[in-house]
Amino acid sequence: MLSIKEIQNKKKNKEKISIITAYDFAFARMAEEAGIDQILVGDSLANVMLGYPSTRDIGMAEMILFTRAVAKGAPNTHIIADMPYLSDGDPETAMENAKRLLEVGAHSVKLEGAKINVIEALIKKGIPVMGHLGLLPQTAESFKQYGKTEAEADQLLKEALAIDKLGVYSMVLEHVPESLGSLISQRVSATTIGIGAGRNTDGQVLVLHDVLGINGGKIPPFAKKFADVFEVGVRGISDYIRSIR
Ligand code: KIV
Repeated sequence: MLSIKEIQNKKKNKEKISIITAYDFAFARMAEEAGIDQILVGDSLANVMLGYPSTRDIGMAEMILFTRAVAKGAPNTHIIADMPYLSDGDPETAMENAKRLLEVGAHSVKLEGAKINVIEALIKKGIPVMGHLGLLPQTAESFKQYGKTEAEADQLLKEALAIDKLGVYSMVLEHVPESLGSLISQRVSATTIGIGAGRNTDGQVLVLHDVLGINGGKIPPFAKKFADVFEVGVRGISDYIRSIR
């Protein structure tokens, strides 16, 4: 399993970091077997696993359940657990919830936004934190690209520098222009992990269900489908039904 130090060294050595989301035992096993660097138990599980409209619809109970399952499936992979909506509203609440995620097998936690006091408190207590800037699904009013205007880009760079100074070991940059993804990656010492942030971040993360085409239908414009598990699954179940009849 990659340590935080080894993850940071990858940036120094210009080795790209691969991250995929996973939410359960079976797919965590698959990701580990494939050799992924880190697994993110993202709160996107609300949408892709539970069919809820928003990541705001889940809380700590779900995150604990799914993080525990992933830890069982991928015992040799660094697991990041998302802090769900409202679980990180203040330093004390965040600390208590982060500890619960580490107890069930996460090695670090990710939280959305430049929540300075919260990030500072977690890091002071030795909890490795991954930041998440740009499009923030927990609070976004629209899913448009963020950082297109000069004012937005300046703000985002400021936030990235601020959380970098606090000591986040890594940060996700979601749905921002490639030029901004590159600039932030050059300016911060944390590893930058892009999702819709161009090619020049230190690593990339995608949602498992998009990568494997698990749910069928549309995927976000910045995602990429590498397999069609939905189609394979429908074919397999149809064959099974035919064999019974
Ligand atoms: O919840 C999630 O899957 C995420 C990724 C999109 C980065 O936060």
